[in-house]
Amino acid sequence: MTKIDKTKPVLVTGANGYVASWLVKRLLDEGMTVHAAVRSPENDTKVGHLKEAAAKSNGRIKFFKSDLLEADSYKDAMEGCELVYHTASPFTTDVKDPQKELIEPAEQGTANVLNTANEVSSVKRVVVTSSCAAIYTDAIDTVNAPGGQLTEDIWNTTASLDYQPYSLSKTLAEKKAWEIADQQSQWDLIAVNPCLVLGPALNPNATTSESINILKMLGGGDMKMGAPKMGVGLVDVRDLAEAHFKAGYTPEAKGRYITAAHNTDFLSMGTALLPKYGANFPLPKKALPKWLLMLVGPMTNKLFTRKFIRNNVNVPWKADNSKIKNELGMSFRPMQETMEDSFQALIDAEILKAK
Ligand SMILES: NC(=O)c1ccc[n+]([C@@H]2O[C@H](COP(=O)([O-])OP(=O)(O)OC[C@H]3O[C@@H](n4cnc5c(N)ncnc54)[C@H](OP(=O)(O)O)[C@@H]3O)[C@@H](O)[C@H]2O)c1
Repeated sequence: MTKIDKTKPVLVTGANGYVASWLVKRLLDEGMTVHAAVRSPENDTKVGHLKEAAAKSNGRIKFFKSDLLEADSYKDAMEGCELVYHTASPFTTDVKDPQKELIEPAEQGTANVLNTANEVSSVKRVVVTSSCAAIYTDAIDTVNAPGGQLTEDIWNTTASLDYQPYSLSKTLAEKKAWEIADQQSQWDLIAVNPCLVLGPALNPNATTSESINILKMLGGGDMKMGAPKMGVGLVDVRDLAEAHFKAGYTPEAKGRYITAAHNTDFLSMGTALLPKYGANFPLPKKALPKWLLMLVGPMTNKLFTRKFIRNNVNVPWKADNSKIKNELGMSFRPMQETMEDSFQALIDAEILKAK
């Protein structure tokens, strides 16, 4: 049982990110003081929306310049905090050197933040933003899981430096977090494990998250000939902020929490947008056949290897989200709302333009 004092400041690492921005807003709206650790506190394109959220709330925000690859970089930001949210980690698939660009910031960054928690006596709880990627790599892994669905007991054993290194980075980072947590008794560790996150970005220009790239691909015409029926889990970024909030402030919270609202697939995500946006945007209307993807996929996108297509296309995705519902009282908004609000936010920001 860990009770966090809401009058104490709370640290959010990577506070300007797509996911973290909604968490920061949630904390500010609750009237809290947020210590926002970011790489570029002077860059208003990156943090202006957080200043705006603070101005409209009862809370306060204080920025700190921090980098995952620098030891002690989060110490000033952590002083006085009982609760630390560690969300910072690169979420990109476009990398040349996965060891340097993904694994090191994810794993060493987690070690830096959590080792600092050992040195700052005010810290009582650390919530890390892990991922379902620390549980599985391909949709086929969910089919092969005991009981045919992902649970919090499962760890990813199929990602590697050569295949889905982002998933490897999240697996190694979360393992490192539990290793450090298990060696001390000052603070407890909670892992939030979201599946694919969509929903409106508070500031779509402040992030390079793959979530935004996926929406751009859906609405920008890349899938106008059709979308792969590729199994994925989906959760709304606003619900994920609430999940983080509950994970931080529920004294009984414990262990990992799969944060997945809908077991769905890419085609269904695209077709959900058709009624409202189909007339003006080149959205996918039908499934691309697997044989066609096997033939042309590897030539069009370096992620679309034959192995990836075999293990994901026409394969359902299933996860058990009962732990977070039962223990943290989470409920999730409908997928239609998530898809429409995500898309509208990109239109409003003029990132997606009607044809
Ligand atoms: N979006 C999803 O679908 C999804 C699903 C599951 C889990 N997650 C996890 O959620 C977290 C946030 O992801 P996101 O989607 O919000 O992506 P994002 O918008 O790209 O946020 C990533 C954050 O990490 C920071 N960061 C990256 N490298 C850093 C470094 N070396 N030092 C300090 N900060 C660094 C980024 O800072 P800069 O802005 O300065 O680059 C940014 O604040 C990540 O841990 C990700 O693995 C995301």
